[in-house]
Amino acid sequence: MAFIRKISPMSLPIVDAVESLRLAVARARREGRPISFVPTMGALHEGHASLVRQAAAGSGSPFVVVSIFVNPTQFRPTEDYSRYPRTLEADSTLCETAGAHLIFAPTVEAMYGAGSFAAGEQASSTFVEVPGLSDVLEGSSRPGHFRGVATVVAKLFLQVQPDVAYFGQKDAQQLAVIRRMVNELHFPIKIVGCPTLREPDGLAMSSRNRYLTSEQRERCTVIYHTLSEAAERVRDGERDTGKLQQLMAEMLDQTAGCERDYALVVDPLTFQPMKKIKGDALAVVAAKFGSTRLIDNMLLEP
Ligand code: PAJ
Repeated sequence: MAFIRKISPMSLPIVDAVESLRLAVARARREGRPISFVPTMGALHEGHASLVRQAAAGSGSPFVVVSIFVNPTQFRPTEDYSRYPRTLEADSTLCETAGAHLIFAPTVEAMYGAGSFAAGEQASSTFVEVPGLSDVLEGSSRPGHFRGVATVVAKLFLQVQPDVAYFGQKDAQQLAVIRRMVNELHFPIKIVGCPTLREPDGLAMSSRNRYLTSEQRERCTVIYHTLSEAAERVRDGERDTGKLQQLMAEMLDQTAGCERDYALVVDPLTFQPMKKIKGDALAVVAAKFGSTRLIDNMLLEP
């Protein structure tokens, strides 16, 4: 097939055209293999690798497609779209080692149509929106973000047509948005949520961690400590979310260089505030260290 681009003779095939992707997927289907899919924006790390490994370990010898696409519609004009790290060569090695079979790396023009396109601008005119869930927390801090995510994931689902798709709990609200979109639009795709991989000191792995200075890198572990402290208080019997939120805010605000966006306890399905903890709850944090914005979350189990 002429479409295949390879970084080295041994490396994974990388395709950028939908027709080429479909040929490869159709061939795998003819072999009776299920199609498993891991959407990413590249700059891959062990957290992404864990998703690929889980996809590859699925039953029936799955054909694992990883997409790498820095999606302009989910960035606001002031965000890091243009400086988002692009590391295709290293990504290809990581995908191969983790058990992927094909990388789909479309161009912005192929995804959204020709024409100039900066982050936040609109090239194509069809969008998918999941109102409600998309309007709180990450959605209210980053207006339009989840519209961009839902739209690109819907496009990717229609391009790849997977049986199963894997997403990280690290982006818990994104996972909830995708689950709702899949249910309500009847995508015949099983969505699997995967646990958050962390550095040894607790920091959730993220492509954005590489922006941090060494000082910020030390300080930002406060996010993990804040979430862990909330989880421990709940295990010890605390049920008042107001008190938990106050504790979380204090821990973050006492840390030099940490600019808290939110530190809240929410319902893990709706992401709406909770007054008292009855069943499971989710502690969610977003904070900036310099210009780098980090998010993390932890389940609170009474
Ligand atoms: P990206 O940030 O590259 O993340 C791709 C997937 O990896 C997401 O499902 C994310 O939750 C998961 N992930 C990131 N860090 C992780 C960690 N430390 N442990 C486990 N999983 C982790 O999320 C996106 O890209 C985009 O919004 C995308 C869904 C691709 C749409 O553009």
